[in-house]
Amino acid sequence: MTDTIKIGKSNVVVSNALGLGTNKVGGHNLFGDLKDENGYALVKEALNSGISLLDTAFAYGNGRSEEIIGDVIADYDRSKIVLATKAAHDPSRGGKFNNRPEFLKQSVDDALKRLKTDYIDIFYIHFPDEDTPKAEAVGALSELKDAGKIRAVGVSNFSPAQIKEANADGLVDIAEDHYNLVHREVETSEFPYLKENQISFVPYFPLASGLLTGKYDADSIGKFKQFSAAEQQSILKALDQVRAIADGHQATVAQTILAWYLNNPAISVVIPGARTADQVHSNVAALNVALSSSEYDQIDQLFKNF
Ligand SMILES: NC(=O)c1ccc[n+]([C@@H]2O[C@H](COP(=O)([O-])OP(=O)(O)OC[C@H]3O[C@@H](n4cnc5c(N)ncnc54)[C@H](OP(=O)(O)O)[C@@H]3O)[C@@H](O)[C@H]2O)c1
Repeated sequence: MTDTIKIGKSNVVVSNALGLGTNKVGGHNLFGDLKDENGYALVKEALNSGISLLDTAFAYGNGRSEEIIGDVIADYDRSKIVLATKAAHDPSRGGKFNNRPEFLKQSVDDALKRLKTDYIDIFYIHFPDEDTPKAEAVGALSELKDAGKIRAVGVSNFSPAQIKEANADGLVDIAEDHYNLVHREVETSEFPYLKENQISFVPYFPLASGLLTGKYDADSIGKFKQFSAAEQQSILKALDQVRAIADGHQATVAQTILAWYLNNPAISVVIPGARTADQVHSNVAALNVALSSSEYDQIDQLFKNF
């Protein structure tokens, strides 16, 4: 669980399977009621606690998340940090996705400025566009890798067919997609191909946007529109059983759920998001939850039908 993690066929090595998602760091365009000061504090908390991979994107605050991270990392040893960012939303086309080589190259240059660094460890095409051939888009990232501006080539929100097309020349190092215990379709649609092709996998929404932290009860049904009321009831029931496992480890539900991902061999790095430094502090303790293999299987089975 604490072994270092190599990203795809790249030279990027992550020292810790627990990273940090930062869409609530500066992501004012996505979430109301965010404060930059909390963003600064929570990124510092993550780095002070030994987290090395920070997952950001241009889309989080139209560059604001990258700027805050750039400010914070100036006080840390850059060589110990793995910066992952993404682009595809093209402001000159009203935010429409753009995967053209010239757009991706410009996006990398712009992100380097905001992050105040001279290389990005992992750069993802954030979303596929409609018309750029995927191997051509990834070819542009491969050129940036050769030039030393990025160190690993990533795709995000690509369908299984698009991942295969993008990886036609074996250039994709990592894929990031929606995956959690209650959203599991990539287990069959993507994981086998990724494994066969040495492509690392990072799941987003690992806590199902907070639903899997255990902090919600029946009164919150309706908050998570992607699930029917009946589905939310059965998720809450399953979480009660996770709580029993968590209690045995003097851990929280969120820590126990995160520990399940840390033990999942298909996952390279798990990147829970956070709104506050306290949440990061608590989530880091997931690294100390040593699930037995039967507890791992029990949690797996509890959510098998999602
Ligand atoms: N590639 C993509 O297209 C894509 C898409 C989405 C996300 N992402 C990345 O994936 C990361 C993770 O996704 P996410 O942040 O949206 O969702 P998530 O990790 O499933 O949920 C994170 C949210 O859960 C709550 N939370 C976290 N820890 C908690 C704790 N210990 N106690 C109580 N509540 C806690 C916080 O929200 P509240 O406090 O507000 O409840 C936090 O913002 C993002 O930050 C982003 O970097 C990528």
